[in-house]
Amino acid sequence: MAELIRVEGACKRFPNGVEVFAGLDLVVAEGECLCIVGPSGCGKTTLLRAIDGLIALDAGRITIAGGEVRGPRRDVAMVFQGFGLFPWKTVEQNIAYGLEMAGAPRPLIRERVARQVELVGLRGFERALPHQLSGGMRQRVGLARALAVEPDVLLMDEPFGSLDALTREVLQDELLRIWQARPVTTVFITHSIEEAIALGDRVVVLGPRPARVRTVLEVDIPRPRSVASVVAHPSFVRLRDRCWSVLRDLEAA
Ligand SMILES: Nc1ncnc2c1ncn2[C@@H]1O[C@H](COP(=O)(O)OP(=O)(O)OP(=O)(O)O)[C@@H](O)[C@H]1O
Ligand SMILES: [Mg+2]
Repeated sequence: MAELIRVEGACKRFPNGVEVFAGLDLVVAEGECLCIVGPSGCGKTTLLRAIDGLIALDAGRITIAGGEVRGPRRDVAMVFQGFGLFPWKTVEQNIAYGLEMAGAPRPLIRERVARQVELVGLRGFERALPHQLSGGMRQRVGLARALAVEPDVLLMDEPFGSLDALTREVLQDELLRIWQARPVTTVFITHSIEEAIALGDRVVVLGPRPARVRTVLEVDIPRPRSVASVVAHPSFVRLRDRCWSVLRDLEAA
């Protein structure tokens, strides 16, 4: 498959002296879902923000479809750690935000918002404010807002991290279904190894700061998938154990 995102020799040090990564390399293929796991504070969010063009690297470069990332791009959408919704905007207005920023015409915005509301199962809540929604529903809004712009790249930063186990599994299944309907190249950060295996085509394990890629695991579980089908697959336990042992070795080092 053709490569879409390339991170090459990425170095980032914050002004306070924290060196987040030093020479990080990563490639994401077109249509692939790449899941990233790694110790807390190792630089996962920083990496995603750099791919999103929100922060600049000190050295190295990131390209998307061959073009160097120098700032936020229309074809890249992010689902934030925490929900990142505007509390004063309704569900509809939150979902419309990215399209409005892109200057999309009104009728297109209306059509896309309606489709996303349907896709993520929020019909009947279009006029609700975020505080009137459950955590799972808020995360659906965040996902719908990102998908509404029909991005080529979807960046997801622990989108389901704060949800209860049941809601989380429901949303994982929905995401698998949404990808099935319209594949979009995705970088998905998670603390859950099981989630990374369920959703990813490959799982990258990052080491502690300054982060480097320690291991890349190919998830040889066919799609279409559901969380239940992944967990029942013979490869699942092997992949999970492998991932755990890499993370345990990092802790011990
Ligand atoms: N704007 C900033 N200024 C200074 N240091 C920062 C800034 N943003 C992040 N850091 C530091 O960079 C390191 C990496 O942070 P980052 O948020 O990328 O980690 P993470 O892997 O996403 O962690 P978590 O798994 O807890 O979400 C941390 O040590 C953090 O304190
Ligand atoms: Mg983070």
